[in-house]
Amino acid sequence: MTIGSGLVELAGIMELNSRSFIKALVICLWCFLMSSLSHGSDQDVSCLRSIKESLQDPNNILESTWNFNNGTAGFICSFTGIDCWHAQDNKVLSIHLSGMGLKGSFPFGIANCSSLQTLDLSSNDLSGEIPSNISAIIPYVTTLDLSSNSFSGKIPVGLANCTYLNVLNLDHNRLSGQIPPQLGQLSRLKKFSIASNLLVGPVPQFGNSTVTAESFANNPGLCGYPLSPCRTASKKSYTGIVVGALAAGVLVGTVVLGLAMFFFVRRASMKKKEEDPEGNKWARSIRGTKRIRVSMFGDSVFKMRLSDLMKATDNFGKQNIIGHGTMGTIYRARFENGSLYMVKRLQDTQHSEKEFISEMATLGSVKHNDLVPLLGFCIAGKERLLVYNYMANGTVHDQLHQKEDGSSSLEWPTRLKIAIGAARGLAWLHHSCNPRIIHRNISSKCVLLNANYDPKISDFGLARLMNPIDTHLSTFVNGEFGDLGYVAPEYARTLVATPKGDVYSFGTVLLELVTSETPTHVIKAPENFKGNLVEWVIELSRSSKLKDAIDKSLVGKGFNHELLQFLKVALNCVSEDPKKRPSMFEVYQLLRAIGERYHFPSDSEIILPLDTSDVDNIQELIVAREEISYQ
Ligand SMILES: *[C@@H]1O[C@H](CO)[C@@H](O)[C@H](O)[C@H]1NC(C)=O
Ligand SMILES: *[C@@H]1O[C@H](CO)[C@@H](O)[C@H](O)[C@H]1NC(C)=O
Ligand SMILES: *[C@@H]1O[C@H](CO)[C@@H](O)[C@H](O)[C@H]1NC(C)=O
Ligand SMILES: *[C@@H]1O[C@H](CO)[C@@H](O)[C@H](O)[C@H]1NC(C)=O
Ligand SMILES: *[C@@H]1O[C@H](CO)[C@@H](O)[C@H](O)[C@H]1NC(C)=O
Repeated sequence: MTIGSGLVELAGIMELNSRSFIKALVICLWCFLMSSLSHGSDQDVSCLRSIKESLQDPNNILESTWNFNNGTAGFICSFTGIDCWHAQDNKVLSIHLSGMGLKGSFPFGIANCSSLQTLDLSSNDLSGEIPSNISAIIPYVTTLDLSSNSFSGKIPVGLANCTYLNVLNLDHNRLSGQIPPQLGQLSRLKKFSIASNLLVGPVPQFGNSTVTAESFANNPGLCGYPLSPCRTASKKSYTGIVVGALAAGVLVGTVVLGLAMFFFVRRASMKKKEEDPEGNKWARSIRGTKRIRVSMFGDSVFKMRLSDLMKATDNFGKQNIIGHGTMGTIYRARFENGSLYMVKRLQDTQHSEKEFISEMATLGSVKHNDLVPLLGFCIAGKERLLVYNYMANGTVHDQLHQKEDGSSSLEWPTRLKIAIGAARGLAWLHHSCNPRIIHRNISSKCVLLNANYDPKISDFGLARLMNPIDTHLSTFVNGEFGDLGYVAPEYARTLVATPKGDVYSFGTVLLELVTSETPTHVIKAPENFKGNLVEWVIELSRSSKLKDAIDKSLVGKGFNHELLQFLKVALNCVSEDPKKRPSMFEVYQLLRAIGERYHFPSDSEIILPLDTSDVDNIQELIVAREEISYQ
């Protein structure tokens, strides 16, 4: 071998090496980029990572099931105890780590799960104080369950700033001191318990929620309604009076006092009996404003006052509640002349009276055959009441899912009629109404049915009234889990309401109509299936088993072709990519084509507005319609 050839060979090796070096460098860089994309920038991943790191896990549950080396989109969603807003998106919706033997203090890293709605750490061995800045850590939770742990110290005042709480459970801990009275301001609370702690002092006064003595049981020194009255104040005056009476030495005095006490106690106990048996305390708080007139739209001859509404609903008694929606509770109002109306009590509107009235004026002018007509409204103190025409058959949700024998009596043609009418109403709101209205809260609970099972959409235009600052946040944090299955996947990311978001929600309603399943829980799905209705149907479609999604009671009655076409329209509506979803106008036309042979009567056709820019869509629509008609 010559020196020359040796050099050439050496150069060759060097060249090879430098090439592979660069290659390796590129790979490293790529790895780094990928890892920083899929991990570093991903807040919710770092949230779970820090929870895992900060808690001791003697049973190795997190250790064995929370594997962060994966990095595919949505990989954390399959972790034990984790639910995401959407299976392909690392955005945590709820954390359930109950009964896992976890030890340590409250994990601060949870702050990075910024869209968290449910936190359940119950039945573990967590200790230390509940952090004072808890409202900064979990600002949007609607359910917080820290029960059966060893948390100690005081209940932080800041908990009252978690204003979206519906469920708060702190029982079976070692919390001590007084309960911050501010907790009484949590106006959305439906379930509350701090039983079995070491608490003393007066309990907070919850205006409207259903907090009972059980919520406070087994604490050493709690007092005040609904427990026995706090002694300190009354004892003082009692002894004061007794000492006074003794000093005067008048026996008669004590007799009078005894009589007075007797009557006082009797009156108090009578008063207690009458205390809020129906949970309609608020209704009595507006009695003083009974004479207020209900503002009616149009030239209604019917003059109403608040007192008429109260009479017609038995003071908004429980027996007259016909529905709980995202926007508030609906009551049946029966007037003396036999006419029926619905009254909706809006939940938590925080707009000024002026803004509210101007919004009402707009909504009062929105009239269409497929919408529930708003007849009037009334402002009484903080209460906002809306008066609607009565819908005899309630909500589509109840018709589909609340049948005692488990199956719905709605026949297919009725379901199809409901879908077409509801689609027409929404298409009108999106395309023909001026100003255009995005509903934002479509669910089977806001499609109501009149005596003839004609669908009418309700709650349109109300989303804007619900939240003072971030109007677009209202559906996101309203705490109604029922509406969860309806939220479009992009919404959790962008929090911007769009017409295509409405289309997604409507697609879910269509899926409910054809499968008879609820959006969040699919009874027919295999046991290990964790997804919602949309995910289930998409899964079936992928494995060419779409037919299995259809409600069995509808199959084999001559509608099979329609059912399948309907299901396909629904699937288009719930496309993950908003751009792939049809517009509401297209949805209406597609459904109408499916139901053409029934000649459902329709007073109102939607005319495609002329200023629309999407001429291409019309072309596609015609093609799509032909496909459906002639397939
Ligand atoms: C990553 O996670 C996904 C979703 O859970 C799973 O299907 C896949 O097998 C995982 N990959 C690895 C390498 O663990
Ligand atoms: C939240 O995540 C970021 C990185 O995404 C991290 O720097 C920060 O420390 C985390 N915050 C908490 C409280 O863990
Ligand atoms: C809450 O307070 C703790 C210390 O008390 C701090 O480490 C943490 O960053 C705070 N979290 C937020 C979200 O403010
Ligand atoms: C709760 O919110 C109020 C008003 O926004 C604020 O002034 C107060 O500091 C907060 N309290 C805590 C403990 O975070
Ligand atoms: C009771 O409900 C009314 C109206 O929804 C609300 O304004 C008020 O703040 C509530 N009271 C309490 C103590 O939560």
